[in-house]
Amino acid sequence: MTDGDGVSGYLSGRAALAGVMGWPVGHSLSPRLHGFWLRQHRIDGAYVPLAVEPDRLEQALRALPALGFRGVNLTIPHKEPALALVDRTTPAAARIGAVNTVIVGQDGLLGDNTDGYGFIASLAAGARGWEAGAGPAVLLGAGGAARAIAVALIDAGVLELRLVNRTPARAETLAAQLADAARERGAALTVLPWQDEDALAGASLLVNTTSLGMSGQPPLEIDLAPLPAQALVADIVYSPLETGLLAGARARGHPVVDGLGMLLHQARPGFRAWFGVAPEVTDALRATVLAGLG
Ligand SMILES: NC(=O)c1ccc[n+]([C@@H]2O[C@H](COP(=O)([O-])OP(=O)(O)OC[C@H]3O[C@@H](n4cnc5c(N)ncnc54)[C@H](OP(=O)(O)O)[C@@H]3O)[C@@H](O)[C@H]2O)c1
Repeated sequence: MTDGDGVSGYLSGRAALAGVMGWPVGHSLSPRLHGFWLRQHRIDGAYVPLAVEPDRLEQALRALPALGFRGVNLTIPHKEPALALVDRTTPAAARIGAVNTVIVGQDGLLGDNTDGYGFIASLAAGARGWEAGAGPAVLLGAGGAARAIAVALIDAGVLELRLVNRTPARAETLAAQLADAARERGAALTVLPWQDEDALAGASLLVNTTSLGMSGQPPLEIDLAPLPAQALVADIVYSPLETGLLAGARARGHPVVDGLGMLLHQARPGFRAWFGVAPEVTDALRATVLAGLG
């Protein structure tokens, strides 16, 4: 291997740089994911974890052009605060209210949000035949991930979105934030109580966006009996990959989509913007990232 080929372990002075800012950042799978693509495409570049304290986020973002970075991903707790710190936002970031991808451009920092895109792309890749207009979608949870997915589902053409959250006030707030987009697209939004028996009736998609079912968290306890047999069940928790929800849904014959696809697909637009190659989500990438889950 020669100097600066991105494989030899050291970089040329022309190396393209990107990374992920978080606090903490050690758990992030993004360096493993982008590192796979950098090696695969033999790009002279690096993607590095950047531990940035919350009160230094602005300083860190402002330093990116001077350091020659093409951009960064943002993870907890930086996604929401970054919205006010970048120079411009994409419509997706503005509507989701959070930035997960920053692109350094001639005219400053562009903040994008690719989480919703990643979710929809994971459905398209993992469940052939799902159509947004096929029936109501049920979203469990009302946190940051729920908002990104709700915006994306409305954009994709879901005509009825049911929001179900343990803390109803949070689901009401989310519904209020989504109201304009839903009105524009002619989508109905409803907030239903946690464990509501009617929530799943007639639905064509059920998505868990809560942290329930994740390693170290309580299980998600839900009776799937009212869910139509052909409904797609997706869980964005990816550790473990086969959550209790997915195992239960699979046993009942539902098509299922796990949470790893969203993580992998949300990374594609950033990689393309920073490194100039449109990367693919492949089985080899999945295996590499899964190995990082331990
Ligand atoms: N696959 C991916 O690429 C991807 C991307 C982003 C996030 N995620 C995963 O998605 C999950 C949520 O992330 P987030 O950023 O949206 O978190 P968040 O903003 O903190 O929201 C957490 C959600 O989980 C609910 N919840 C937590 N504990 C609960 C319990 N004991 N019973 C019922 N509901 C409970 C919360 O309900 P309350 O409002 O009632 O507290 C809230 O709706 C995490 O597991 C995260 O790892 C995956």
